[in-house]
Amino acid sequence: VEKSRTNSGAYLYEELKKYSCKDFYPFHMPGHKRQLSVGPASDFPNPYGIDITEIEGFDNLHHAEGIIRKSMDWAASVYGADYTYYLVNGSSSGILSAISAVADKAGTCGSILMSRNCHKAVYHGVFLNRLKSRYVYPQFSEEYGIQCGLSPVKIEKMLKQFPDISSVFVVSPTYDGIVSDIGSISNICHYYGIPLIVDEAHGAHFRYSNLFPVSALELGADIVIQSVHKTLPCFTQSAILHLKGPYVDRERVERFLQVYQSSSPSYVLMAGIEQGIWWMEEESREKMGEYSKELLDLRQELGAMRHLRLLGKEVVGTKDIFDLDISKIIVSTKGTEINGLQLYERLRREYHLEMEMCTEDYVTGITTVMDTKEGLERLEQGLLRIDSSLGGNGKREEKRFYKEADWPWEMEQALTIYEAWEGEKEPVALEESEGRIGAEFIYLYPPGIPIIVPGERVTKEVIDTVLRYKKMGLPVQGMKYKSNEIMEVVKDGQISCN
Ligand SMILES: Cc1ncc(COP(=O)(O)O)c(C=O)c1O
Repeated sequence: VEKSRTNSGAYLYEELKKYSCKDFYPFHMPGHKRQLSVGPASDFPNPYGIDITEIEGFDNLHHAEGIIRKSMDWAASVYGADYTYYLVNGSSSGILSAISAVADKAGTCGSILMSRNCHKAVYHGVFLNRLKSRYVYPQFSEEYGIQCGLSPVKIEKMLKQFPDISSVFVVSPTYDGIVSDIGSISNICHYYGIPLIVDEAHGAHFRYSNLFPVSALELGADIVIQSVHKTLPCFTQSAILHLKGPYVDRERVERFLQVYQSSSPSYVLMAGIEQGIWWMEEESREKMGEYSKELLDLRQELGAMRHLRLLGKEVVGTKDIFDLDISKIIVSTKGTEINGLQLYERLRREYHLEMEMCTEDYVTGITTVMDTKEGLERLEQGLLRIDSSLGGNGKREEKRFYKEADWPWEMEQALTIYEAWEGEKEPVALEESEGRIGAEFIYLYPPGIPIIVPGERVTKEVIDTVLRYKKMGLPVQGMKYKSNEIMEVVKDGQISCN
């Protein structure tokens, strides 16, 4: 009798195999979109056949001086970096390494200025280095329900006010493709003699078309981290870290890359990074031309929607938005009778379109050069049909649904992340936590931007938002008690040493 994995509980592999035969179309990462016969996968060997370890002639990522060194130097020359490092543990490992490398005042009085809409990995870096975090908040668009750009003026003000800031960390583009004015921000940082790190996890494709924004690497950033798996045809978990200019100590970066990455880095992932970048550089021109045209057509057709609203270039120049990555398809449900989750579910159920994520007010789709014409047309048809099924008076309601408050509200920081997350805690009912100091992160995943960070004082808005998300069925994560009804807060009496 053939043993069934399904009955044994070990059936991840079978489910993946089954799923790969279904007709669900991916508007999510990884950027290769599971295309086997075109693009870099078409001549990539079976992963088992090239999965080796650090044998003679194959170098060592953590002590690269042979073929891995050459490959990374080649990637650096492609991207215009001084040094480029292959990451096998995602952008997350690059983010942790970057923060540790610049946190030379850790444990003393150093602080990092970061955008409050950073991914949780950035907060983890702050925690591990026991830094004090200071925040610059992005603007918010009530119209679309999205977080917008970062103000260089606000950043400059913070640097003037707080001389203990020893580095600046911003996310650009955001998950939603919002790009801030990195050129101005890097000039400001360098005027103050400190490095700028940019989380460009969603921008590895920028250099491949002038339809996309300019990469932070060309605009003066000192460390730029890109998830090649998100928007380029590369395997999940693969990413790159670029280093440029004199503000960051390269040896410290290399030291921490060893700390935060596996000591058995996958040759499959490393070869996949090289293969993806090589294909983009050398062989993607024709496919890029087709994709660009199809993307522009899609965006034009979606401009006809009467209820749903596609985020477009018209927002550039408002709310500190410096540029927009048009490869991201952000469809806002604000002012309609459905919310982001309902749109996400209708796209999946009715059209077998698997989107990247949704929030309360919008759905995000990732498109890449590997998307097919058929896939993009399905998205267009799905959205147009859902749009025309929505009621109302035939056009988008001008009266928007304003909630009592929209994130981000400026939060009071009573303790550092380290003090609160590692200090004495106690559980309280979330609904009764107002005024207490939070001792855990709460976020929607994706996108992984904390609604509250350990050390921040809980407000009514935080409680209402988490309860509302929970009621809607959005993926609230981070709390120890999985019911999301109990929150860990700092035991009364703990004082900050900062
Ligand atoms: C803005 C941003 N930064 C960093 C990361 C972490 O990237 P990775 O998944 O490659 O570790 C993500 C993941 O989604 C992200 O959205």
